[in-house]
Amino acid sequence: MTQPLLDVVDLHTHFPVRGGLFSRRSDVVRAVDGVTFDIAPGEVFGLVGESGSGKTTLGRTLLKLVDPTSGSIIYRGRDLAPLREREMRPLRRELALVSQDPNASLNPAMTVAQGVGHPLMIHGLASSRTQMRDRVGEMLERVGLTPGERFLDVYPEDLSGGQKQRLVIARALITEPSFVVADEPVAALDMSVRARVLELMLDLQRDLGLTYLFITHDLATARFLCDRIGILYLGNLVEWGDADTLFGDPQHPYTRALLDAIPLPDPGRRERDKDLPVGEMPDAQEPPSGCRFHPRCPAAFEPCGWTGDDLIGFFERRWTEVDTDAVRAEVEATGGLDDAAVRDGGIRFDAGDAPALVRLLEDLRARQAHPLFTAVEAIERDGDHVEVSFGPGPEPALQRVAGREVACHLHGITTRER
Ligand SMILES: Nc1ncnc2c1ncn2[C@@H]1O[C@H](COP(=O)(O)OP(=O)(O)O)[C@@H](O)[C@H]1O
Ligand code: SF4
Ligand SMILES: [Mg+2]
Repeated sequence: MTQPLLDVVDLHTHFPVRGGLFSRRSDVVRAVDGVTFDIAPGEVFGLVGESGSGKTTLGRTLLKLVDPTSGSIIYRGRDLAPLREREMRPLRRELALVSQDPNASLNPAMTVAQGVGHPLMIHGLASSRTQMRDRVGEMLERVGLTPGERFLDVYPEDLSGGQKQRLVIARALITEPSFVVADEPVAALDMSVRARVLELMLDLQRDLGLTYLFITHDLATARFLCDRIGILYLGNLVEWGDADTLFGDPQHPYTRALLDAIPLPDPGRRERDKDLPVGEMPDAQEPPSGCRFHPRCPAAFEPCGWTGDDLIGFFERRWTEVDTDAVRAEVEATGGLDDAAVRDGGIRFDAGDAPALVRLLEDLRARQAHPLFTAVEAIERDGDHVEVSFGPGPEPALQRVAGREVACHLHGITTRER
């Protein structure tokens, strides 16, 4: 195999935030939390995940627009992670970003020639104004703004959304970079122009021999564009590998859920957002223990990381489903969920009716009312207290399964190093 252009090893990017003094929320957002993969020269690597999964943070970290907390980013054999901005500067022209919102990335006070030509000036790649204008004119033609010279002296506000995004692409590529992070580059555009801008990006990638990290929340687009794909969930890659392999035979339940959420083509209907059938993305400040996907996973089983939080979530849902007499009896038995104390490995109830609660929990466990009960190791009463303890739920590590990397206990229980 050829040397990777980029070799990413156990990369973490955490943001300090205010933690809750009285909650168990931590004081960091683990936006990127131990990501390992590589990008081959000349490939389009798709990074797919729901909003909040850490895609933008990972893309910006690879370009050192955000500093990683730990890990390495080996680019052409050199680790970018420890480099200071001064040391990064000569590399900047090789690393480019095409971001989602053209309005936010274009300076409205600069003409097209000034804006697109700016990187040439910064990097000393044009020796005169005429040379800069010539280069910009050529680049504009490459991105389909023809004739280029007609656009040189206009301002971004005079252009359409699609034209502005072509401008953003022109500016990103004018220094002839080798690695481009394209962060949802068409998400802000009308459906009618998206396909053409994507085609343009692919043409440029082939013609100029570029390597892309293509970020999208849309698997269908990723399938169309990418050689390999990584699925990001709460700062972790849960599955990555060859795009056809992943789409043909997904091995992680989250990848499967994303694929199932792709609507069948229906030209008569407007594109709508596709929600996953299994609820909301958890808070990155307080990721679930064990496998981070376990609260939403339709295949979750004993080792997946069940805790007292899951038992609370179970009762909350259950009490919207059973009849009011049952709700009243169960609230009384538990003493209410607010007073339950979740701790490492278990949960303790001490405000309810202990014998009734033990009967209720034993019954739920016997009926396996929820997969979390497979992990219940003990239900113990001590006077007025009831303690429920759970067996261990290690965080799954990536393992090789049928030609791709996947982190899921269904393929054999693994434990990720922390
Ligand atoms: N500068 C920041 N400070 C604190 N939290 C951040 C910052 N940037 C992103 N986050 C948080 O990191 C997580 C990942 O965000 P992001 O990388 O934007 O995800 P995505 O691009 O997949 O939507 C989110 O929980 C987000 O709120
Ligand atoms: S380890 Fe696999 S089965 Fe278990 S919750 Fe995670 S994705 Fe689902
Ligand atoms: Mg984003």
